[in-house]
Amino acid sequence: MAEDYKLPRGTQDFLPLTSEKISYIEYMLKSVAGLYGYHEIRTPIFEHTNLFLRSVGESSDIVNKEMYTFLDKGGRSITLRPEGTAGVMRAFVENKMYALPDTPIKLYYDGPVFRYERPGAGRYRQITQFGFECLGVHSPLIDAELILMNTSMLYMLGIKDFVVKINTIGDTQSRENYKVELRKYFENHLDELCEDCKRRFEQNPLRILDCKVDGEKELVLNAPIITDYLTEESREYFNKLLSYLDKFGVPYEVDNRLVRGLDYYCDTVFEIKCKTPDGKDYGAIGAGGRYDGLVEQVGGPHTPGIGMAFGVERLLLLLDSYNAFDNYINSFDAYVMPIGKECLDFAFEITMFLRSNGFKAECEMQGKSMKSFFKSVDRQKVPFAIIVGEEEMKNGTCNIKNTFTKEQVTINLDDLCSYLNKGLNKEHECQCGGNCNCEKN
Ligand code: HAM
Repeated sequence: MAEDYKLPRGTQDFLPLTSEKISYIEYMLKSVAGLYGYHEIRTPIFEHTNLFLRSVGESSDIVNKEMYTFLDKGGRSITLRPEGTAGVMRAFVENKMYALPDTPIKLYYDGPVFRYERPGAGRYRQITQFGFECLGVHSPLIDAELILMNTSMLYMLGIKDFVVKINTIGDTQSRENYKVELRKYFENHLDELCEDCKRRFEQNPLRILDCKVDGEKELVLNAPIITDYLTEESREYFNKLLSYLDKFGVPYEVDNRLVRGLDYYCDTVFEIKCKTPDGKDYGAIGAGGRYDGLVEQVGGPHTPGIGMAFGVERLLLLLDSYNAFDNYINSFDAYVMPIGKECLDFAFEITMFLRSNGFKAECEMQGKSMKSFFKSVDRQKVPFAIIVGEEEMKNGTCNIKNTFTKEQVTINLDDLCSYLNKGLNKEHECQCGGNCNCEKN
C-alpha cells in the first residue's frame, strides 16, 4: 500500500470495541468529575502559536521540538494544541470567566492533542487528554482535592496499584534561588551536556533535570535538589499538602527530582505512575501541577490555578492489561434467533420490544443454522440467547438460554424484561460495570 494510504506514524485507528472502552473510561472520568463540581469546556484544536510559546514556554521540549505548527492561508502561525491547559486559560481570559462570582472555577476537557514525539510503547503523536483545571484558589487543600479526585477515578476504573510521584518546585523566589545554584553547579561541566542542555542552561536550567539524554547521567543525578532552596512559605505549603494526602491514604512518594517539562508550573507538581501486572511501564498515566502565574501570562488578572491531565490511551493500555473491561464490554444483552423464515418477523418484534425497554438486542436475520448462531453468541459473549419458533409465536412465549449458567426456560413475553433485568443485574445502580468497590462486587 502506498505510504499515503497508511496511518501517519504515532496515530491510531480505534475500532469499535476499543472505542467503546475509551467511551467507558471517559464516562467514568466525567461521572467522578461531576461529583467534585467540574464542568465541561471545549476549546479549539488549534490556537495561535504564540499562546503556546508564552504559556507552555520557550524552554520546554514541547515548544522546541514537538509542535505541529503551520502557516494558514492568511499567513498566521497556527499550532495544533500540544496540550489542553493553554487553550483553556485563553478561553478563561477571553470569556472573562475570572469575573464569575463563585470560585473555584472547575473545568474539564477531553480531546486530542498533538506532539511530534518519537512513537513507542504508550507514546503517540495524537493523544487523547482528559484534563482538569481548577482556578481561583491557592491552597494545599484544593491541591489535595484534585489528587484525591484522580485517586478515586483510578479506583473506580479498577486500577489499584498506582503511585502519585509528587514534588514542589516552590514559588518564584524558591526557583530563582535554585536556578542560581543549578547554574553554579553546571557551569564548569557544560561540555558534558548535550546541545539542548547547553541551551537549557541559559534559558531555564531546571529543564536539564528532565532531559531525555542527560537526565540519567551521574552529573545530573547529583545536582542540587529544589528542596534545599525552598522559601519557608513554599515548604509549609508542601508539608500541609502531604499531611492531607496522608490523612486520606493517598499512595504517594515524594520525588525531589520531579520538575515536569512545562514552564508554567510552580509549587505542587505530580505524576501518576502505574505498571501493568507483567511489569510494563508506559510512562505516567496522568500528570499536572499548580500554575499561579499562567492566567496573567495569557493576559488575564492574577488567578491561581492547579490542574492535571490523564493520557486516555495509556489508561486504556493499563486497563486492558488488568482485563478491567471483562465485566463491562459485551456486544448485546440478548440475541434473538427465529427458527425458520416464518418466525423472522416475530423475532424482530421481540428485538424491537427489548430495545424500546432499554436492552441491547440483536435479531438474527440471515438464516443462520442453530450451530452457527450459538457460535456467534459465544464469540460475542452474549449473556442471553432467545429462540422463537412456531410454538412460541402461537403461545406468546420465548425460549431463553442464559449462556453463562446454561439455564434454559420458556417464559411468557410479558415476563421477558423482568427476567433479563434480574439476570443482567440491571438494578445495579452505580454503573461501575463491576469494577468499583461497591457492595455489589
Ligand atoms: P503532560 O504531562 O505533558 O501534562 O501530559 C499529561 C498526560 O498526557 C501524561 O501524563 C500522559 O499520560 C499523556 N501523554 C503526554 N504525552 C503523551 C504521548 N506522547 N503519548 C501518550 N500519552 C501522552 C500536560 O499536558 C499538562 N497540560 C497537564 C496539566 C493540566 N497541568 C496542569 N493542568
